[in-house]
Order: sequence, then structure tokens, then C-alpha cells
Amino acid sequence: MRVITNVKEMAGVCPGWGSSSTVGFVPTMGYLHEGHLALVRRARTENDLVIASIFVNPTQFGPHEDFERYPRDVPRDLAMLESEGVDIVFTPGVAEMYPSGYVTYVEPTGPLVEQAEGRRRPGHFRGVATVVLKLFHIVRPHRAYFGQKDAQQVAVISHMVEDLNLPLSLRIVSTVREPDGLAMSSRNVYLTAEQRTAATVLYRALQAGRRVFDARPAQGVAVVIRAMTETVAAEPLADLDYIEVRDPHSFLPLEVLQPPALLAIAAHIGPVRLIDNIALRADGTWDTGLPSNGSTD
Ligand code: PAJ
Repeated sequence: MRVITNVKEMAGVCPGWGSSSTVGFVPTMGYLHEGHLALVRRARTENDLVIASIFVNPTQFGPHEDFERYPRDVPRDLAMLESEGVDIVFTPGVAEMYPSGYVTYVEPTGPLVEQAEGRRRPGHFRGVATVVLKLFHIVRPHRAYFGQKDAQQVAVISHMVEDLNLPLSLRIVSTVREPDGLAMSSRNVYLTAEQRTAATVLYRALQAGRRVFDARPAQGVAVVIRAMTETVAAEPLADLDYIEVRDPHSFLPLEVLQPPALLAIAAHIGPVRLIDNIALRADGTWDTGLPSNGSTD
């Protein structure tokens, strides 16, 4: 496995968009877990060359967010990527991606970035779109892999690919969860043992919403949101940020829960802000991320 830290060298070794050998690309911020590895494994089965990046992107963190203390362990990440058969890992430093004098940003607009995560984290998706476009131009992948866990990030990037005519396909991988339903996240490491137990409330609330929907499909969203809110209210360590029912592509709110739709939740568990979602697919089935489709009910 080759490890590259320099933009020119990385761009130089990539076969490029015109090439017949396919490149699968998995962008990450490191501190890898099984969620990231699910993306890598899917990329490995679908492409000739697999490239992963590890870059904690400062432009997507707000001034009071956790950029400085975001967990990092590059040696461990490299060992994990090597054992998954990754060909190349790109781990640039901040000055390599944003040299002094850097001025250009990609600015997604509209409801997609004004709602949900975009509203709570101003500038976040501008930072994500900017770094992902830069990485796409450096790596020039045929396929890029993202997690359903960050559903709004998926929507932002898929609009960007469409709007800017990028010659690549996106592959979206279901959320990988702990056996008790907690979505895997690099930030779970911040949780104390007690908070870790309480953190399952996000998934429990999503399951409560799903059950209400399954009992009476195509109903108003208020009853679904009420069931979810009650679940969160019963967990003393949880402080609800939002529960929303949205169109997964436009991120506009839905009044009636009908597919395709997304149930999304964000909550503070102690000082840690966690997000999660489940998706009601166009065919009326749920993507919850658990193979049994909700065995922790
Ligand atoms: P990061 O949080 O490291 O996540 C990298 C990729 O792994 C994202 O596509 C994310 O959705 C996916 N992922 C995280 N947890 C997952 C889980 N439990 N199951 C499935 N996939 C999961 O997302 C970012 O980094 C950054 O915003 C990035 C796209 C790299 C741009 O900086």
C-alpha cells in the first residue's frame, strides 16, 4: 500500500477519468471504524484501484467545534486500510490542501444547506463540498463511496456532482451500527460508559418512528415525530436538537410520510452531538442499516 501526502504526487499516480482501469475512492477524516471499512470493502469489490483519503478538513468545522481535538490515529488507520487491500492512501497536511493565499470555496445553496445540519452548522457543507471537490479533482475517481449515516452530506455531494457535471458515480452504503443500534461514529469515543448506553436513544427513537409509520403508512408526520420525541424525552441524558422528516434529495420537509423519505435525528448526549437517520426507500422498505432491518426493536 502506498501512502502519499503530496497533492502533485497523488494526482500524478491516478490513472484519471479517461482511463479504462477503474478507481474507487473513499474520502474519510480517519479514526476509522467498521462504518468506514464497509465503504472500503464495497469499493474493493467494484474497482481495479482503491484509493482512500484521511484528512481532518478544517473548513467543515465551526469555530466552536472539535477540529483540534477530533480523534486521530493515522498509524492504526493505515494498518486497517492495508488489511482491506487498499492500494493508495492520500493523507495530506492542512497546508497542502489549503496553502496560504487559498481563496476558492464551493458554496451549496438553498434548503439543502439551510435546514437540519446546515442550519445548526453554518458553513459546514461549504467546507465539505469544497474539500470533496478538491479531492475528486486530485484523485479523479470513477466511483466515490459515502455513508448513509451522513444523509445530508450525501444529498449535498450528489447535487454537486450533478450541478458541476462531474464524471463519476456515487455509491451510498447503509449505516453500520453497533449490535445495540448505535450508529458507528469516530465521535463515539467521546462518550463515557453511561453516555454510551444513553446514546442508543437516537436509534430507539428512529425505530419508534418507523413502527408508527408501519402501523399506518402515508400518514401525517406529526404523529411519527411525537412518538420519536417521547422516546428521547424518556432518556434523561439526551438533549434533543431536532427530529425531522425530509425528502432525501432536496431535504425539503415532508408533510405526509411517503417514500422516499428520511427520518433524521440529532441530539446531545452530554457534551457530544450525535446524528442518525433511517431511510424509507421508494419501494416502501426501510434502510435502517441493520441486516435484519431492526432486530433491536
Ligand atoms: P468521516 O466522518 O470520517 O466519514 C467518512 C465516510 O464514512 C462518510 O461518507 C461517512 O458517511 C461514512 N461513515 C461514517 N460512519 C458510518 C457508519 N456508521 N456507517 C456507514 N458509513 C459511515 O464524512 C466525512 O468524514 C467528511 O465529511 C468527508 C466526506 C471525508 C469530507 O471531509
